[in-house]
Amino acid sequence: MNLKGKNFLKLLDFTPEEIAYLIDLAADYKAKKKAGVEHKQFSGKNIALIFEKTSTRTRCAFEVAAADLGMHPVYLDPTGSQIGKKESIADTARVLGRMFDGIEYRGFGQEIVEELAKYAGVPVWNGLTNEFHPTQILADFLTIKEQFQKLKGIKLVYMGDARYNMGNSLMVGCAKMGMHFVACAPKEFWPSEALINECNQIAKQTGAVLEFNENPAEAALGADVIYTDVWVSMGEPDSVWEERIKKLMPYQVNTKLLSYAKETAVFMHCLPAFHDLNTTIGKEIYEKFGIDCMEVTNEAFESKQSIVFEEAENRMHTIKAVMAATL
Ligand code: CP
Ligand code: NVA
Repeated sequence: MNLKGKNFLKLLDFTPEEIAYLIDLAADYKAKKKAGVEHKQFSGKNIALIFEKTSTRTRCAFEVAAADLGMHPVYLDPTGSQIGKKESIADTARVLGRMFDGIEYRGFGQEIVEELAKYAGVPVWNGLTNEFHPTQILADFLTIKEQFQKLKGIKLVYMGDARYNMGNSLMVGCAKMGMHFVACAPKEFWPSEALINECNQIAKQTGAVLEFNENPAEAALGADVIYTDVWVSMGEPDSVWEERIKKLMPYQVNTKLLSYAKETAVFMHCLPAFHDLNTTIGKEIYEKFGIDCMEVTNEAFESKQSIVFEEAENRMHTIKAVMAATL
């Protein structure tokens, strides 16, 4: 398997074999790290981390993985560079491409990261756009594989706004890996028809099943994984909260919903999650709408079925694999 020089922009660009390879490579790196085996194979390399949106996991995963591989990361925060305001993406790409061996980008439209990759001349990695969050899916699938020893046939039910980065990317990932994906939300929150059609074409080759359902109890039946994400994503206006809460509350992950899934089912969330009042936004929403949790109850979040922190840890191992495979 040779992915040297390749960008990592979305899972649609990768074959099932390549995705499986990246997940296995991540598992190898994880084992090395746990065993204390040094792997500074990329010393002397420099990477740029562009974040036009905030981050805890993705940024730390890139920085720690870079250090473990012997590389030097440079972080560009949402306000501290010329990007977008004074300098175009194409110009930024050509500048950074001359100094760095790889570039991570987190920001808004997918077309921005695609443009960056077009001009950079070095591998570009997507650290989240409005449309896709591909490194998150690798971590999720490594976590699922650790739990169930396989991906093929696993039933993953995504509850909530499935039109955005997480819903889209999970659908693509499940289609590629022959899984059973269900998006459960009111119809207006389902992925676009174009992406569904593309994924159905992939599913024909891989044996994946893609379903869309407005009924949470029905969708969750026999699930191996119940997955959710925030109801309002970074970059969306605060004005959409009220409508989202109203429309998505029936799709909240709680112990009742989990009881429809298999006994062995796990709960997953890319994080950050609104499961209590210990966040500024959580408190604001409580004051405005009187609810003390949103997409997941605290009980479900803290339950034995919840593997969200294993999932978060795996962001680092999988991002390391992506960098090591493409550099
Ligand atoms: N899941 C995820 O991407 O988290 P951050 O926003 O903290 O990077
Ligand atoms: N849908 C979320 C994912 C965060 C990791 C967002 O874009 O804010």
